[in-house]
Amino acid sequence: MDADAQKRAAGEAAAALVESGMVVGLGTGSTAAWFVRALAARRLDIVGVPTSQATADLASGLGVRLGELGETRGIDLTVDGADEIGPGLSLIKGGGGALLREKLVWEASKSCVVIADAAKRVETLGKFALPIEVVAFGHRTVQARICDVLAEFDLGVVPSLRRKDGQPVRTDGGNLIYDAPCGRIEEPAALAAALKSVTGVVDHGLFLDLADRALIGTASGIVELEP
Ligand code: A5P
Repeated sequence: MDADAQKRAAGEAAAALVESGMVVGLGTGSTAAWFVRALAARRLDIVGVPTSQATADLASGLGVRLGELGETRGIDLTVDGADEIGPGLSLIKGGGGALLREKLVWEASKSCVVIADAAKRVETLGKFALPIEVVAFGHRTVQARICDVLAEFDLGVVPSLRRKDGQPVRTDGGNLIYDAPCGRIEEPAALAAALKSVTGVVDHGLFLDLADRALIGTASGIVELEP
């Protein structure tokens, strides 16, 4: 089973968890897209809360009724992908640039299920460059402060401004993203708190103590993990 087939299997397994009447957080990325397709195919009476414009477009095109965060009666279940899944279901997310809306939706959810292919599991977070969303105003100054924070954690790396076709990528919220190639993040909770304390950092891709369950597609079927 290749990575895409594993993502699809994980998405379909997660769609089976949804029941009519639920408000469902809809993640972003290629794995979450498989979930949205499988969910739409079930034709349940649900309301979806998308974590990005891309997911909103996909879901509404498939006939999923959408609501906005804070305007539904609360989110029962969110299903989303991840870039890395580490110990205790600690995660790096944001490879698709939707980390802020994702975190807002995850934090508002009663239950969160992360879905992924087997390659996303790691022993230590950090091989995938950590996405950090910053405001555009004075972002080079913010980058310098982020470097100071990373140095405090012995991470002597310089985060790079994410670009596409030569142009800085703008998030759905109009912000910029810096990607920090940390290598190994030995103290994710402390790093998460330190990054959040930098003025101009809107959020980062460390999702800690948020996932209640993981459904991982593997060559031999779905593996289920808990923190
Ligand atoms: C989107 O911002 C991300 O958090 C995605 O969930 C993450 O990048 C995983 O994407 P794939 O499912 O495409 O691997």
